[in-house]
Amino acid sequence: MTSSDAPGSNAVGLDAAAPEALIFNPFDPVTRADPYPVYRRLREEDPVHRSPLGIWILSRYADIEPLLRDVRFSNDIRNANSLPLATADNVEERLERRSKVMLFTDPPDHTRLRSLVNKAFTPRTVEQLRARVHEIVDDLLGRAEAKGSMDLIADLSYPLPVVVIAEMLGVPAEDRDVFHQWSGDLARSLDPLLPAELIDEIERSADAFTEYFEKLIADRRAHPGDDLLSALVAAEQAGDRLSEEELTSTCILILIAGHETTMNLIGNGMLALLRHPDQLEKLRADPSLVPNAVEELLRYDGTVQMTGRTATADVSIDGHPVKAGEICILLIGSANRDPARFTDPERVDVTRSDIKHLAFGAGAHYCLGAPLARVEAQIAFTEMLRRLPESLRLEADQPEWRDNIVLRGLKSLPLAW
Ligand code: HEM
Repeated sequence: MTSSDAPGSNAVGLDAAAPEALIFNPFDPVTRADPYPVYRRLREEDPVHRSPLGIWILSRYADIEPLLRDVRFSNDIRNANSLPLATADNVEERLERRSKVMLFTDPPDHTRLRSLVNKAFTPRTVEQLRARVHEIVDDLLGRAEAKGSMDLIADLSYPLPVVVIAEMLGVPAEDRDVFHQWSGDLARSLDPLLPAELIDEIERSADAFTEYFEKLIADRRAHPGDDLLSALVAAEQAGDRLSEEELTSTCILILIAGHETTMNLIGNGMLALLRHPDQLEKLRADPSLVPNAVEELLRYDGTVQMTGRTATADVSIDGHPVKAGEICILLIGSANRDPARFTDPERVDVTRSDIKHLAFGAGAHYCLGAPLARVEAQIAFTEMLRRLPESLRLEADQPEWRDNIVLRGLKSLPLAW
């Protein structure tokens, strides 16, 4: 859904020149810093909102959760009857490339791709990573302790998941600075509207990433190892279950999904705790609450704020006629703060008992890496609270948010004690 910039309009087709008509502009810096007031207005005033460009914006849990499970809605944007803002010249080519990525496929391709990767992400395999995650967290926190201050993002929440996923996949962790830039660019490609020059940059990063993985794949063909990449190569060699292009795009997806999201969970979560010191105190007093707290933080300020689906049949949503080929944007971040689903949703409550959030999605595309993200975040929070002194404080009044619309996260989170 990327496109070149259409002056005066934005992804959801609302006219930026007419602010009074604008109830949801995710590109507005104020909304980016805090989208929750706008979500509230949408839920209250127009929960199944149709933008002037014909895109539906859904904000209630009761509409979003079933839609994520509804087989009449596709992850493949090529089913859309029009891409309202997709005006870049190589749209076809870009959509073709995207259609090899598991997240953007439907059955039977999706089922086939997912079942291959799923083998590596069993809760058991992930549990076995606990010791390694501990080791990495210990090392990173040790360095921060020695300094007496840290940027949580640069010093912990970025390097932790990136090292873990690189090791799991079998990608040299020392290459991480090389793929960090590509990965950041590709993560932005999830956003609904991008300026043309950024699309070009993203395309260049996608090419570079592809080339990088092609070399690694060739290497693993010759010298198989005990890693996910070798396992996927073996699956490809065993038959036609995975094409070369699918293999490459699966590796890229896992590498990006494996760290951009978890990085933001640790950052957003820590910010929420620092802004709710009573909850931070509760966690310090009873670290057994950490797994529950991680779920609450995913609900309260999750990483994936929205996702998209295209109707493949005419469907009625709360009395609104959604036609085949129309695109729906599902505001996961809003569903997770829906008072019709959660008691007192604007409050962080690490002891909350009913936290069936949608932060990892739902249905066939439910996050494959959820067990891994949970282990990483649980260990990171447990160790931060155990090792960093009670004088731990935020060194910025208003930490800056990254430019991404879909993946919400901080540029940095300076902490001192
Ligand atoms: C806090 C961390 C994470 C969050 C909030 C998150 C969130 C999500 C969400 C919402 C989806 C579904 C999107 C949709 O239905 O449109 C998803 C899918 C996916 N996630 Fe995650 N994710 C996280 C971490 C991870 C990690 C650590 C990995 C891998 C190591 C991962 C790999 C994937 C993959 C491969 C998919 C696509 C699954 C499919 O299409 O069947 N994620 N994630």
